[in-house]
Amino acid sequence: MARGKFITFEGGEGAGKSTQAQLLAERLKARDIQVVLTREPGGSAFAEQVRELILGSNTADHGPLAEALLFSAARADHLERTIRPALEAGQWVICDRFADSTRVYQGVAGGLPKAIIEALERIVVDDTVPDLTIVLDLPATDGLARARGRGNNNSRANAGGPSDNYEDRPLSFHERLRDGFLMIATAEPERCVVVDALQSQEEVAAQVWNTVEIRLLQQQQQSD
Ligand SMILES: Nc1ncnc2c1ncn2[C@@H]1O[C@H](COP(=O)(O)OP(=O)(O)O)[C@@H](O)[C@H]1O
Ligand SMILES: [Mg+2]
Repeated sequence: MARGKFITFEGGEGAGKSTQAQLLAERLKARDIQVVLTREPGGSAFAEQVRELILGSNTADHGPLAEALLFSAARADHLERTIRPALEAGQWVICDRFADSTRVYQGVAGGLPKAIIEALERIVVDDTVPDLTIVLDLPATDGLARARGRGNNNSRANAGGPSDNYEDRPLSFHERLRDGFLMIATAEPERCVVVDALQSQEEVAAQVWNTVEIRLLQQQQQSD
């Protein structure tokens, strides 16, 4: 049984990661590919508990090192119990955020030294590196406006609605996130593809699908 493919979606708040991860999962399933759609932080029972702690509004202040370690604990369990078993069973795994988010949120924007991020990634991710990472790129202001209107057709009515502790950080933090994701994509073009997330959902989905076909499906047919 060939190992499944591992695809991650990355980008700032409101870029459309969850929307596109879902659309890609449906499209792959229609091709009779078994898909596990998962997310970070979370994706296993323990990791979902850590997610509540990380994103919870009652969670006490803590620095980027403590935060990166929490993400790492969640990721270790997620990889061990969900991602690696699925890939070994030949299923494709689509993950909404993964290690690049730690690099960017706790590293580039959070200020944690690169050497620490790299060491954690080596220990936790090891060789389970994504086959493809889609970076959804848009200006921070557009992403935040979308995130704040999420789940509500009348975005004004939701303007003061619930948000997690990242959405509330200053615009400069979110602009650094955007730069951070773009730097990763530039440094690792064999893994990453940047898609303009200002386009309509359908246009973004079409580009994502085109990328998956060229980079993963055609390659697989050639090796069959
Ligand atoms: N291409 C798009 N154009 C306009 N709105 C979008 C687009 N993609 C997603 N949205 C909407 O923006 C909001 C945030 O999308 P979501 O997929 O939750 O982003 P993320 O998971 O990256 O934070 C949702 O309300 C979603 O319906
Ligand atoms: Mg999301």
